[in-house]
Amino acid sequence: MKLFKKVMAVGLASTMVLSMAACGGAEKETTAAPATTAAETKAEETKAEETTAAEAAETTAAEVAAAAGDFDASNTTVGISIYKFDDNFMTLYRTELERYLVEELGFKKENITIQDGKGDQAEQSNQIDNFITSGVDVLILNLVQASSAPQITDKCKDAGIPVVYINREPDVDEEERWKAEGLQATYVGCDARQSGTFQGEEILETANKGDINGDGKVSYIMIQGDPENVDAQYRTEFSVKALTDAGMEVNELFKQRGDWDQAKGQQLTQDALTQFGEEVEVVFCNNDAMALGALQAIEAAGRKVNEDIYLVGVDALTEAVQNVLDGKMTGTVFNDHMAQAKAAADIAVQYLKGEAVEPVNMVDYRKVTPDNAQEVLDALK
Ligand code: GAL
Repeated sequence: MKLFKKVMAVGLASTMVLSMAACGGAEKETTAAPATTAAETKAEETKAEETTAAEAAETTAAEVAAAAGDFDASNTTVGISIYKFDDNFMTLYRTELERYLVEELGFKKENITIQDGKGDQAEQSNQIDNFITSGVDVLILNLVQASSAPQITDKCKDAGIPVVYINREPDVDEEERWKAEGLQATYVGCDARQSGTFQGEEILETANKGDINGDGKVSYIMIQGDPENVDAQYRTEFSVKALTDAGMEVNELFKQRGDWDQAKGQQLTQDALTQFGEEVEVVFCNNDAMALGALQAIEAAGRKVNEDIYLVGVDALTEAVQNVLDGKMTGTVFNDHMAQAKAAADIAVQYLKGEAVEPVNMVDYRKVTPDNAQEVLDALK
């Protein structure tokens, strides 16, 4: 696969040269000979640039075409980095990603390296540098900090390695840059606004629309993921927005970061229940791991889900879906790790075949309520 990587690097360089020449902004590092006027120099430079660009474009098109038929999954290397292994949802995701690459696409297990970013961007950046030095053919990255995407994308570009970001979405400016500069970088994920909206709708679908005590407002606590993560921001915002859009008055009693973690979800819910007691009508958790923790705290406080308190999460971890079926959680939202893993792997292959890729690729979330929980559970097995 080495030839192909080189070809793609040339392709990118020529695209950039072409666009620079087109805007007349091409710069040369060499200085003009003293006897030549500035205008002459400029004209010569422009001509030289155009020739180089044309030659490069010609070579690239031919090489890309030749290399396109060259893709062979069995000798292609993949570098994968997960923001941290100690995360229930990302564990499901990475297991499925590896299974799909090997079992469905024919990659060799020994050609796939998956590393644990351990929640530390510096550590993860080192791992990525090593992947680049070792010359992997493609990278699939779940960044610790999505804000590091610009630097990492530039390193991948320089090395001619396509990169598929998953789960932690870089910002819109960065995604637009990939498109504008023709970079081989893309994002595969879900639109977290949708999951937040679904959580709010699940509360609206209850008998009293979340207003258990009938005082005219929904009093809730919000257990957030990592607030730097757009999933946490959007779920927090849009779950509540669904209520207010439906004309409900809301009362936020408590909002704290639980970093996607079950033990923190339990502790925070316990704190909130101690402080606000019966006042708490709804517990919004940005994910299921924290909702499982919240359920432990709710049960320990002698409260009963769907009777005197509502509880919703996101992800559709098996245990959470079973809780929905058993009436111990009001609902969750399926964060489809299977469809996301498939999309990420398929898109990596598209790059390796020289095909065009969109900068953003979204998979739909799905509401999980008692009505379809069994079906979702069966699909997860
Ligand atoms: C979210 C997921 C969380 C956590 C997070 C990591 O999409 O719902 O459980 O895995 O990604 O970035």
